[in-house]
Amino acid sequence: MKADIFRKMPVENLMSHNQEGKGLKKVLGAFELTMLGIGAIIGTGIFVLTGVAAADYAGPALVLSFIISGLACAFAALCYAELSAMIPISGSAYTFGYVGLGEIWGWIIGWDLILEYCVAVAAVSIGWSGYMVNILNIVGIHLPTAIIAAPGSGGIINLPAILILALIAGLLLLGAKESAKLNNILVAIKIAVVLLFIILGFSHVEPANWHPFMPYGWSGVFSGAAIVFFAYIGFDAVSTAAEEVKNPQKDLPKGIIGSLIICTVLYIVVSAILTGMVPYLEFKDNAAPVAYALAKVGISWGSALVSVGAICGITSVVLVMMYGSTRLFYALSRDGLLPKGFSQVSKTRGTPNKSIVLVFIATALVAGFLPIGKVAELTNMGTLAAFVIVSLSVILLRKSRPDLNRPFKVPFVPVVPMLAVVFCLFLILQLPTFTKVAFLIWIAIGFVVYAFYGYKHSSLNGTKAEKVD
Ligand code: ALA
Repeated sequence: MKADIFRKMPVENLMSHNQEGKGLKKVLGAFELTMLGIGAIIGTGIFVLTGVAAADYAGPALVLSFIISGLACAFAALCYAELSAMIPISGSAYTFGYVGLGEIWGWIIGWDLILEYCVAVAAVSIGWSGYMVNILNIVGIHLPTAIIAAPGSGGIINLPAILILALIAGLLLLGAKESAKLNNILVAIKIAVVLLFIILGFSHVEPANWHPFMPYGWSGVFSGAAIVFFAYIGFDAVSTAAEEVKNPQKDLPKGIIGSLIICTVLYIVVSAILTGMVPYLEFKDNAAPVAYALAKVGISWGSALVSVGAICGITSVVLVMMYGSTRLFYALSRDGLLPKGFSQVSKTRGTPNKSIVLVFIATALVAGFLPIGKVAELTNMGTLAAFVIVSLSVILLRKSRPDLNRPFKVPFVPVVPMLAVVFCLFLILQLPTFTKVAFLIWIAIGFVVYAFYGYKHSSLNGTKAEKVD
């Protein structure tokens, strides 16, 4: 077993999955991918977390936190772009790890990504529920606490969160094209709302609010960066769509890098304006800082519009992240590391239905019955760990498989991937100990699942896999 756990999935095996007429339907282009990326990126992070990050950690220097996190993501995004154009296969970082580092690493990234996506979907659906309940309250509909909160938060079940998950799962069952269409509309609305905030907020900036600029020093800026990192998560989900892309070699890098650039620019501008409009301490415990800032300067219609935009924004995050998790289960199951049923594709719609149902049940259980709280930080931990392994895979694959066609190349290898590794490890260090311990426990469970199931059922069992170098 010793050497076998490092057996590598030959790229050629994988590429045979991505042929016209096989597996998932090819319906997405560069535009849809960029929209998919923005769909997954702009959401709870900018609409909810910015307030807490400014008040408790970074102060007006929140803009620096966004720049630092954005840099970590930019380096990692280049690595994702190279690997996804080279290996355009569902499964994203899991597949890259499987090819570059060997089965056990691939599995661990896959297991890590299950955590990232499912926890993110659950956490974001709870955020959606909170916003929805708020809007319903404003229009005079008051739902009983028992059905809008999890047991740990004073209720019995969080039904609105389960409802949005059910709606999105239903949409995913309809097909990737239909899901992408709705996503385009939601993304257009949320970009419009972010631009509206920038235009309305700009003239209400009081430079005095930017002083003191760094009330908690650099350590606050770094902690803030680790938190707002959540706002950037999502561009990596673009690569999970690889097998549904018409021209993956060209379109995947465009989708990954394009969506990240657009969101980074928007985030930097929004965070500068936000902290310029309102003294940062007023954002303490504020779950709707963007809407709050507009209301505070007297633009209540803008504030209401932002709330509606936030709902749309958060819906599209649920959509794309849920989509990503189903494609991940699909890839893990196809390679035999999870039961085969999850990679069956519906004949009529071309969608992996069992994966969709499994992801719905798992996320509904978490969102409906668990108070998420700090657990959402696990999403950051899981994602950062995946970024580290993806960046290392770029370096290793350049050495072990120089022959492979790379339609997109990371510049200055190994410097850029190493910068991604250093930035991501640095951000991991800023996360709370609880998060790191919880992550290690999840990974330990992953090793057990691999030992008792994945290793035996792997599609590489009994075949001639590439051995570790
Ligand atoms: N980036 C996503 C969000 O902020 C996960 O909601």
